[in-house]
Amino acid sequence: MESMTAKTREKFLVFGAPALGREEIEEVTASLESGWLGTGPKVARFEEDFKRYKKSPYAVAVNSCTAALHLSMLAAGLKPGDEVITTPMTFCATINAIIHAGLTPVVADVDPVTMNIDPADVEKRITTRTRAILPVHFAGRACDMEALTKLARDNDLKLIEDCAHAIETEYRGQKTGTFGDFGCFSFYVTKNVVTGEGGMVLTQREQDAARIKMLALHGMSKDAWRRFSDDGYKHYYVVECGFKYNMMDIQAAIGIHQLARIEANWQRRQEVWQRYQEAFAELPIVCPAAAEAESRHAYHLYTMLIDESEAGIPRDEFLSAMTKENIGVGVHYLSIPEHPYYQERFGWQPEDYPQARRIGRQTVSLPLSAKLNEEDVEDVIEAVKKIILRY
Ligand SMILES: Cc1ncc(COP(=O)(O)O)c(C=O)c1O
Repeated sequence: MESMTAKTREKFLVFGAPALGREEIEEVTASLESGWLGTGPKVARFEEDFKRYKKSPYAVAVNSCTAALHLSMLAAGLKPGDEVITTPMTFCATINAIIHAGLTPVVADVDPVTMNIDPADVEKRITTRTRAILPVHFAGRACDMEALTKLARDNDLKLIEDCAHAIETEYRGQKTGTFGDFGCFSFYVTKNVVTGEGGMVLTQREQDAARIKMLALHGMSKDAWRRFSDDGYKHYYVVECGFKYNMMDIQAAIGIHQLARIEANWQRRQEVWQRYQEAFAELPIVCPAAAEAESRHAYHLYTMLIDESEAGIPRDEFLSAMTKENIGVGVHYLSIPEHPYYQERFGWQPEDYPQARRIGRQTVSLPLSAKLNEEDVEDVIEAVKKIILRY
């Protein structure tokens, strides 16, 4: 029998390491050899492929989801001081993008089971200054879009979806990112489709897509690809003070092949997710709620809760114990009002968002990449059981 002190595995299992294939490597090499590294034909192809996959009329590639969120709020015509209601169970980028757009973030608590923004709490926080709702499809689980779209419609609010976790997610057959005015996606290294760094905005209106494209490249009227192409040099004019948010062809080269493999990778993550659900069913921890029948879960994160009074081990000790077993883990997320900057700036207190506070203090994310092989998955399960059953 294995000694209690031996590590579950020899080599550290990196949390969120992406599954990359030969095709990505060859396409990046082709970009390098072509001499065209910046925004060009591969970005255009990635946009086409992505909008076809998402069944959206317009898609604009940018260099992060943070940029996608920032530009969406500018293109939505929101004005300084306007309030945007979002979730406290998100990455700080969601909140920071609202602030960078000159707007005021307002957080509404989450549902304790789905961990998604609670439409009833959103409704309570609508004021005369509210102009938008910004839901995050947490961990890849669709938000209650029926309630949120109704709230947006009834109160004349913009709806901007943060789909950083939710590329494959559908709600009642409709793809996330197409419900509201804008859908924002991330291709950061741990996401379901990766480009290293990268993002995409889906829009329903041509003028919004055009404005985002222009704002993503300094506010210039023509992008570099068109300026320097073999059609001959074209002058550009700066028509707004924009940003440097464009995606490069080297990034899109990776994304094109990641997107082509999206279903196989989704399938693999679903298998791993189910395997964890079965393996941990009898442990004194809280596993994620089953995926709703009416939605398609993207299986981006497997987040379980460690309640010390049940599990016998504090969450942070569990994180350290997993690391000692050579298993990488994550925390998604300490609730937004736990961070000193937001407390000082907005007077937010964690206790005002009790569900998000509890989840944020108990949550642990286990590895859930399509890269995991059977042995990796068994190692994760063994380490979790070893730690929990020891207490
Ligand atoms: C919910 C959420 N929103 C926004 C972002 C920001 O994405 P990016 O790193 O592409 O800017 C992330 C990234 O982790 C995220 O998880």
